[in-house]
Amino acid sequence: MQLPPQVREYVEQRAARLGHAALEQAAEALSEHYRAGRPTASAPLSREEKVVAYLATRMPATFAAADLVLREAGRRLGGLRISSSLDLGAGTGAATLAAREVFPDLLEATLLEADPSFAGAGRQLLPEQRWIESDLREAGPWQTHDLVLACYTLGELDDPERIAALDRAWQAARIALVLIEPGTTRGFHWVREARDRLIRQGGRVLAPCPGDGPCPIASPDWCHFGARVERSSLHRRTKRAALGYEDEKFSYVALARAFAGRTPGRIVRRPGRHAGWIDLTVCGREGIRPEKITRRQGPAWRAARKAEWGGTWPPDTYTPHT
Ligand SMILES: C[S@@+](CC[C@H](N)C(=O)[O-])C[C@H]1O[C@@H](n2cnc3c(N)ncnc32)[C@H](O)[C@@H]1O
Repeated sequence: MQLPPQVREYVEQRAARLGHAALEQAAEALSEHYRAGRPTASAPLSREEKVVAYLATRMPATFAAADLVLREAGRRLGGLRISSSLDLGAGTGAATLAAREVFPDLLEATLLEADPSFAGAGRQLLPEQRWIESDLREAGPWQTHDLVLACYTLGELDDPERIAALDRAWQAARIALVLIEPGTTRGFHWVREARDRLIRQGGRVLAPCPGDGPCPIASPDWCHFGARVERSSLHRRTKRAALGYEDEKFSYVALARAFAGRTPGRIVRRPGRHAGWIDLTVCGREGIRPEKITRRQGPAWRAARKAEWGGTWPPDTYTPHT
């Protein structure tokens, strides 16, 4: 997964203007800052350094995570049309850009972002959309939109404000709300808290969970997934990375007001592939279960060979005989 070509071109231009040495230093500082679990706003960088480092190293990853999550959620929406969206803490617009790829009818996007340099870059990338430069803790109630996105955002707020923003985000969601957070224990705990809270307010889980029952994941484990991000040469140079890709780890929940269809189980670990069998760990309605699929199982074996961490099981195209 890679950013769309016109976005990559814009990022290259901004990176060239900042200069390679400054970008490399800024990217290192930003990534240390994230690893420590601190919010974007407090990163010890100039506005220009922060936004260019974000564009070059974080935006490809948040875009890839949003793309994967929105495709999963979209499959569960039963053909409902998404034509408007509200992106909270939009940054440079990654989640909206992904949503526009997944939902072709999405023409009216509103993006709310507090940092003027992030909003400024985002405006260049999504010039025809409505950008609101304001603090989401103060703004609102928001107008309703088919889809509300809060990707890597609410986790940056402190407790009471985060919960208030979550409730307002849900009220603004006409069809669905998508929350994505870093795939850390902290990110997962917040996603689970948000999931439980919104189920109590009538939300139905579209993904990743197979239902609206209590989450069976027990500490110290946590539910997270990975999105493969193809690194551009700029990304590789900035991070001095040898590999041509990286895996972005994230936790998420997508909730809808109404829900067509039953979600199958979810593969919550990387499949274990062996010579004659494949081990899957599946989160189903009855909890987490291991499944061992052998060569002898014909269609199940063929499906398991294509099974991926984060995918559904049984996959949508394969129905087991029970
Ligand atoms: C980690 S970035 C995520 C950006 C984008 N959603 C993405 O997925 O790439 C978090 C963004 O939320 C914004 N943000 C944090 N607190 C905010 C607030 N109170 N009001 C508005 N934006 C906020 C930050 O400025 C930053 O752009």
